[in-house]
Amino acid sequence: MSDDIKHILEKENLEKPDLVKLLSAGEEDRKLLFEKAMAVKEALVGKKVFYRGLIEFSNLCAKNCYYCGIRAGNKKQHRYEASEDEVLEAARYAWENRFGSVVIQAGERSGKNYVARIESLVARIKDMSKGELGITLSLGEQTEETYRRWFDAGAHRYLLRIEVSNPALYPTYHPVDKTHDYNARLEALYLLRKVGYQVGSGVMIGLPFQSVEDLADDLLFFQEHDIDMVGMGPYIEHADTPMYKYKDRLLPKMERFNLSLKMVACLRILMKDINIAATTAMQAIDPMGREKAIKVGANIIMPNLTPTKYRDDYLLYEDKPCTDEDAEECKRCLEARIHMAGGEIGYGEWGDSKHFKKRNPGNV
Ligand code: 5AD
Ligand code: SF4
Ligand code: FES
Repeated sequence: MSDDIKHILEKENLEKPDLVKLLSAGEEDRKLLFEKAMAVKEALVGKKVFYRGLIEFSNLCAKNCYYCGIRAGNKKQHRYEASEDEVLEAARYAWENRFGSVVIQAGERSGKNYVARIESLVARIKDMSKGELGITLSLGEQTEETYRRWFDAGAHRYLLRIEVSNPALYPTYHPVDKTHDYNARLEALYLLRKVGYQVGSGVMIGLPFQSVEDLADDLLFFQEHDIDMVGMGPYIEHADTPMYKYKDRLLPKMERFNLSLKMVACLRILMKDINIAATTAMQAIDPMGREKAIKVGANIIMPNLTPTKYRDDYLLYEDKPCTDEDAEECKRCLEARIHMAGGEIGYGEWGDSKHFKKRNPGNV
């Protein structure tokens, strides 16, 4: 078996059967995969880990994804929206601590007032930080005009996970209606690219009914769509969601975690110069989850800057870490963790995807 894996790891281009084998690798072979991924990372993106201070702006959401704890249909969920000043204060913390960038994330909403409010928030953050803070948005599917307004206000990266790249599986995890449409989501990724954003996407790993072949296709999807940055992590069940009924068909959590690590390693080998996040969901399963992800190819971490009083209300899944810690505690904790994982922190840098820069040489 090892010879087989060695041979695959020497190939110039990985194809679906190769990825399936790598994702199925056992203990010994896994080591080879991880070593190769680390070598690719060091050679192509270096040791630096970049911060994106995460501000979970609001848990209001108009959608009803079956897996998510803050879906509109979860009436048990207490709802909040942080004030503009609270967001600005969190962004100021990021700027003063030289985090380089912030991510503004919330459930998906639309409407004239909402769009205008985000636009003004982005402009105020830009202004406050003298243009220095990079701004990533993670606010779901919007119209081209909205994407453009937010881009013109100063946001330059956008995260929109495809969640699952197999269109046949999409309805398993989402209601079948106009607001949860696979093709519309794909179209949104194109629009983001067209407007000029660096585009991030991602998937969940270890969903019920998802196969290793599906996961290999997820990786090839990122390649095919020339994605600049990826955030992916294990699916973690949440008791107040429709998908909880499948909890007995899931892989054990540790296996979902191990599969996620292999996904990160394979992606680093497949798309050598993109940004890959060590996601919070990985740490929800393994206390050292994000460090392990850094060691096998991830180069982005999102320290939580959401005001502590709101953190308990942004529980997309169970056991989400850092809900009792404040920004200062997470900062100290992460610094130690990244150094332990052999990384360096790219303080004060945007840490844009090298992949994007290559595609748009004059743009950054
Ligand atoms: N487990 C893991 N990730 C989840 N997300 C939502 N619900 C869950 C869950 N139960 C992820 C989705 C979404 C991101 C913000 O959080 O991929 O895009
Ligand atoms: Fe809303 Fe996003 Fe959760 Fe779906 S995953 S219900 S769009 S917050
Ligand atoms: Fe938040 Fe460790 S990163 S407590």
